Amino acid sequence: MSDYEHDYPDHTQTPGFEAGDEKPCNGSGNPTFYDVIDAARASRRDFIFGGLAAAVAGVWGIGVGSRGAMAAEAGGTPLLGFAAVPVNAADKVVVPEGYRVQVMGAWGEPILGEMPAWKPGANSGAEQGMQIGMHHDGMHFFPIEGSSVDGLLVVNHEYIEPRFLHAAYAGHELDADSVRVEADGTRPVDDVLKEMNAHGVSVYRVRKEGEEWKIVEDVRNRRITARTGVEIGGPARGSGHMVTKHSPEGTGARGTFSNCAHGVTPWNTYLAAEENWAGYFVNRATEDGEPSLPREHSRYGVRTEERSYYGWERAADGADETARFDATPQGGDAAEDYRNEPNTFGWLVEIDPFDPKSTPVKRTGLGRFAHEGVVFAPATAGRPVVCYSGDDARFEYIYKFVSRDGYVPGESDGAMLDDGTLYVARFNPDGSGEWLALAPGENGLTPENGFADLADILVNARAAADLAGATKMDRPEWGAVDPVTGEVYFTLTNNNRRTEEQVDPVNPRAANQFGQIVRWKEAGGDHAARAFSWELFVLAGDEDSSWDLQGEPLTADSMFACPDGLWFDPNGRLWIQTDIGESQMNRGALEPMGNNAMLCADPRSGEIRRFLTGPNGQEITGVVMTPDARTMFVGVQHPGASTMPEDFAAGRINSGFPDYDGSVPRSATLVITREDGGVIGG
Ligand code: FEO
Ligand code: CA
Ligand code: CA
Ligand code: CA
Repeated sequence: MSDYEHDYPDHTQTPGFEAGDEKPCNGSGNPTFYDVIDAARASRRDFIFGGLAAAVAGVWGIGVGSRGAMAAEAGGTPLLGFAAVPVNAADKVVVPEGYRVQVMGAWGEPILGEMPAWKPGANSGAEQGMQIGMHHDGMHFFPIEGSSVDGLLVVNHEYIEPRFLHAAYAGHELDADSVRVEADGTRPVDDVLKEMNAHGVSVYRVRKEGEEWKIVEDVRNRRITARTGVEIGGPARGSGHMVTKHSPEGTGARGTFSNCAHGVTPWNTYLAAEENWAGYFVNRATEDGEPSLPREHSRYGVRTEERSYYGWERAADGADETARFDATPQGGDAAEDYRNEPNTFGWLVEIDPFDPKSTPVKRTGLGRFAHEGVVFAPATAGRPVVCYSGDDARFEYIYKFVSRDGYVPGESDGAMLDDGTLYVARFNPDGSGEWLALAPGENGLTPENGFADLADILVNARAAADLAGATKMDRPEWGAVDPVTGEVYFTLTNNNRRTEEQVDPVNPRAANQFGQIVRWKEAGGDHAARAFSWELFVLAGDEDSSWDLQGEPLTADSMFACPDGLWFDPNGRLWIQTDIGESQMNRGALEPMGNNAMLCADPRSGEIRRFLTGPNGQEITGVVMTPDARTMFVGVQHPGASTMPEDFAAGRINSGFPDYDGSVPRSATLVITREDGGVIGG
């Protein structure tokens, strides 16, 4: 007899967390801007449209409202050459006239080994390990010898929906992420195996044959999953925080999961970000009847409930590989149990897609948090390598890493990321900003204040950033660097818990449902600089609550909410992808936005135009183009996720994407081209 657990009241888009992010764990007393500026300063509207605009005008040397003129003066061809698509709330993909869409690489497509055929929800755990994973997210196209028609596509798989993953769940009333637990409290071994194998990263070759792109069998095709052996690299390698029964030396670990977005290094490797990993672990340690967790667990939201979110530690065979998800100390020391297993997650993981035998490396120099993704500044010979990463949870921070050594084209490799300085951002109310070093002896990070050494700081990056005095943001998601100007953009997706007392110029709305995009210039145009100047690029929202770069409301063609994916194409167009959580989409204040979408912006004029809308229940996430910019790959994640439990039980799933044959919906990659073969977006 089986049971279905329902201990989560709402659909969630990310395991265990309401509205798609982690529970707020930031209990630090860091000031929000509101504490440091005149509390009497104007109403919120005046604050946004008056005070901030004036401050920003001073910093950028131009006034809000004057940039359209600036763009016009600059002349040249308009960047956005397509007609906007309207808001859509139907179960389909819509692109502008003159564009075509092919679906490729859906969850369950075989890419290696015995090439097991897709069987809706019915493949075994072992078969899933030879197929594309679930819930596509960050993605990159690595050209083979510079080709625009042949390359390796690398795709993250952020999490799973058990309702669709396991055919046996059909007909039961259960929430999107609920898993089956047997009456004796265990979980079926093959269910757990399948779930672990549906996570991680897929690497597979794709090639254009005629007008169609096809998956090609290749020795480089690979699945990296929650089970793959990995190395710990960087300053935390060998530290006491990394010691486990599996690796008493603290140098190795198993798997990567909750891989949200990604980054591409200057030496052409892939970094998979580990975002909402904390809920995959449970630590039931108590003191005086209350949970008693070390800060490297509590500050990240490791679960204190009966079981981890998916309950992998309850696999019926009790294998070591799954028992490790229970981080409760078992007595003895850290080399005898898995109290430190959660410390081996929360990193950026380097993967070389061209070497299928290479071991992924967790680059601990980049800090441990809920990494949404990472974006590198263009590398310059002799200068440090610089990258930026957001910590996607309410009131968390934006970080940047600056390497110690200068970049040597053709020689530098991942070791560049092992020596350097991690910084965290403070956005001042006057439009200036500072990078605060998270390094021993800096910003109060001393043994007396509880930070023993660099490894301790990096493992506890959130706590270190608290002490340093970083700015608490509205859920930092993707970053992007303008290839023309070097300006850095970050999406701040939303924050429904920010109060009126907590608003500040960069996070200017309480109960922020719509999100915003911030951009900044590093001092002197040097990405390694310690100072920057910032402004808001757009406040998202409907026609009544938004603010574009001209200070005007967004329109029917440009309005959007919950910006998440963000990417500059080689021609300087900024692509914005939205992730309205499935419990909010098509309802209330988010109803006018329709289904999640992708828009394109001109970073100079600030013009924004909707380019693509997706099917029901999904988010659009992941975007990249071939080098010639004539093929674009776009990810569709979790179609059908907004299906209510009672509808699921009755077989009424609200999306049929992409098969539309009555089987379960599945994440997939869209291949977008122009009918005339032209450059995408132009
Ligand atoms: Fe995985 Fe923050 O989106
Ligand atoms: Ca999401
Ligand atoms: Ca995301
Ligand atoms: Ca998101």
